[in-house]
Amino acid sequence: MVGSAYPTVNRMSKPSAVTLNPMPRHVAIIMDGNGRWARKRLLPRVAGHQAGVDAVRGVVESCAKKGIEVLTLFAFSSENWRRPASEVGLLMELFLQTLKREVKRLHSNNVRLRVIGERTAFDPKLQQRIAEAEATTRDNTGLTVVIAANYGGRWDITQAARNVAQKVEIVALKSNDITPELLDQHLSMSDLPEPDLFIRTGGEQRVSNFLLWQLAYTELYFTDTLWPDFLAPAFDEALLSFSKRQRRFGRTGEQVEQAQGA
Ligand code: IPE
Ligand code: IPE
Ligand code: MG
Repeated sequence: MVGSAYPTVNRMSKPSAVTLNPMPRHVAIIMDGNGRWARKRLLPRVAGHQAGVDAVRGVVESCAKKGIEVLTLFAFSSENWRRPASEVGLLMELFLQTLKREVKRLHSNNVRLRVIGERTAFDPKLQQRIAEAEATTRDNTGLTVVIAANYGGRWDITQAARNVAQKVEIVALKSNDITPELLDQHLSMSDLPEPDLFIRTGGEQRVSNFLLWQLAYTELYFTDTLWPDFLAPAFDEALLSFSKRQRRFGRTGEQVEQAQGA
């Protein structure tokens, strides 16, 4: 069945799948390098995380200005609990304080805030603050900012599979009904376009259990710039690199060019 691998009916088939889009709809970022940024300055690691929050503000502003629809930020991975308890505690505190401080401003800028990840592991105060931030901004129509916190790509796929299994039990779903599209519907960001551009700062070239399923056809961009130094010009460079990519989704370059000319 030639062509059947090219999705046509679900959210994976957005129009930008076949045309070279200069601006991604969804940018997903692994904000790495805070610790090294601090160490270079002989500062404690948490100072790097604090400086990282300023960089987040900048990228959120850039995305809103450029009309990017979704910005997903990896803030804390399911593996980051392995860090020293003191650093984990400070990161949680920083998350709480940042939510307290920033939500009003985000709301007034029509930003919709979402948090993905296993949030039940968080302190109840933080869970409540997250729920409030989501509720306050739920109906906003501007940029959607997704914070991945205690998130892992494997966790996401596992919880989707668990939900599908419940359907098997409750609505007698057949195993043959389990398709990529069905599983996709149960993932954390099923209602959002898939990431077009993935950025990892800090020099490492790995995915570190970020969006495993959703990155299937995302353009990958790695930069040595440490996250707190990732300011507007660095972001523009990533967007420029993206604009030059030809996204083929399994097709040939000629097919893509033909579709664009059509
Ligand atoms: C990323 O920066 C922030 C989090 C993982 C919370 P790092 O803290 O990993 O910084 P490096 O990699 O040690 O420089
Ligand atoms: C990935 O960075 C997680 C976040 C940025 C939140 P890490 O610094 O934890 O990744 P590894 O451990 O170097 O792969
Ligand atoms: Mg790191």
